[in-house]
Amino acid sequence: MNQTEWVSKFSEFESVNELNEEDRKLIEQARQSVMSAYAPYSRFSVGAAVLLENGQVMLGNNQENASYPIGMCAERVAVFAAAANFPGIKIKSIAITALSKQFLIDKPITPCGACRQAIAEYEHRYSNPIRLVMTGETGKVLVADSIKHFLPYQFNGDDLKAK
Ligand code: THU
Repeated sequence: MNQTEWVSKFSEFESVNELNEEDRKLIEQARQSVMSAYAPYSRFSVGAAVLLENGQVMLGNNQENASYPIGMCAERVAVFAAAANFPGIKIKSIAITALSKQFLIDKPITPCGACRQAIAEYEHRYSNPIRLVMTGETGKVLVADSIKHFLPYQFNGDDLKAK
């Protein structure tokens, strides 16, 4: 029997002011995007901004539906739009933020499990780690340099092939 270990690493910043310029700008774009979320049911708006290697930024926000389960998270709207509009261009980073009509979100919002899997698909597709920069309306910013820190031991396309 062998035991293995995976250590997830995150950087925590006191506020967006501590971020480098690229990350700060991307968070600002996610904060613009959150304003266009369509979240009449949860009243919890999420905004995402994806930065591509060619410098293009693709925005996404959550899109809810009266048939609740078919709504889509901000992160998936953003990464799918990036891949649909710029196929073959690597995803460098994604910024995520949220805004609630009911309470102040004073901590970073991290991607849900399904979005972790979707982001992992593009890390794998482009063999390129995706940086995640996450914050709430105020407060700390969490940064991870790969989705692996949120989703270790991933299932990916290689698992569908014979060795
Ligand atoms: N949501 C996101 O957009 N991203 C996440 O990572 C977590 C949840 C959305 C889905 C739903 O519209 C609302 O937030 C409440 O769950």
